[in-house]
Amino acid sequence: MRKKIVAGNWKMNTTLQEGIALASDLKNALAGKKVNCDVVVCTPFISVAAVAEAVKGSIIGVGAEDCSAQDKGAFTGEVSASMIASTGAKYVILGHSERRQYHGENNALLIQKLQQALANGLTPIFCVGEIKEERESNTFKSVIEGQMAALYTLSAEDFGKCVIAYEPVWAIGTGLTATSAQAEEVHAFIRASIAEKYNKTVADNTSILYGGSCKGSNAPELFAQPDIDGGLIGGAALKADTFMPIIEAWK
Ligand code: PGA
Repeated sequence: MRKKIVAGNWKMNTTLQEGIALASDLKNALAGKKVNCDVVVCTPFISVAAVAEAVKGSIIGVGAEDCSAQDKGAFTGEVSASMIASTGAKYVILGHSERRQYHGENNALLIQKLQQALANGLTPIFCVGEIKEERESNTFKSVIEGQMAALYTLSAEDFGKCVIAYEPVWAIGTGLTATSAQAEEVHAFIRASIAEKYNKTVADNTSILYGGSCKGSNAPELFAQPDIDGGLIGGAALKADTFMPIIEAWK
């Protein structure tokens, strides 16, 4: 059966020292607790290696927030999937809406990034989601289907290694969470689309996370939906105190 996952996305927050402190706080908060989901923190590149070290011996998995579309070589400023994997990190967020918006990331680029991540044994957390206008014009399903097309270039086996995060852009960092019914509608739509492209088993085994102003107060209702398998958490992942209640929403 598919995994339940609560993953943090620190974005461009935390210095190296703050990142290590946050990871240690989380490790301490989780120590001795019975946890009913996988816990992941995706950190700025600068912190990935140190955070991977800091959480050793805990259940916390570590990831990066992006990776290069290239293997290696003369790509100044880029960080490859193999470099990320060499830190002990196991995950990488790909196609976050902020990367799509500010760095023009499109399907062609994301297909290359997916291939790099998978070739290096990283689990992609692949983000899809519509902007406000697309929600209002009721075109969001075709937008999401268009974003899913990057994943649909993968074999069923490789697709099965990916996690999907549905993040309505209008809900990210705005405090405007999608209602659990709005989120569930899209999650069910994504799962039906996967079943159509591959088969029902693949669809049933895919973890689909919700992201966008998810916090301790709304996580229980969101996670109670049949097709919501966890969360990708921005703001509320920046303190152990606010991240823990989301993890604990999986009773
Ligand atoms: P938020 O961000 O929880 O701060 O809305 C979620 C995300 O962008 O992954």
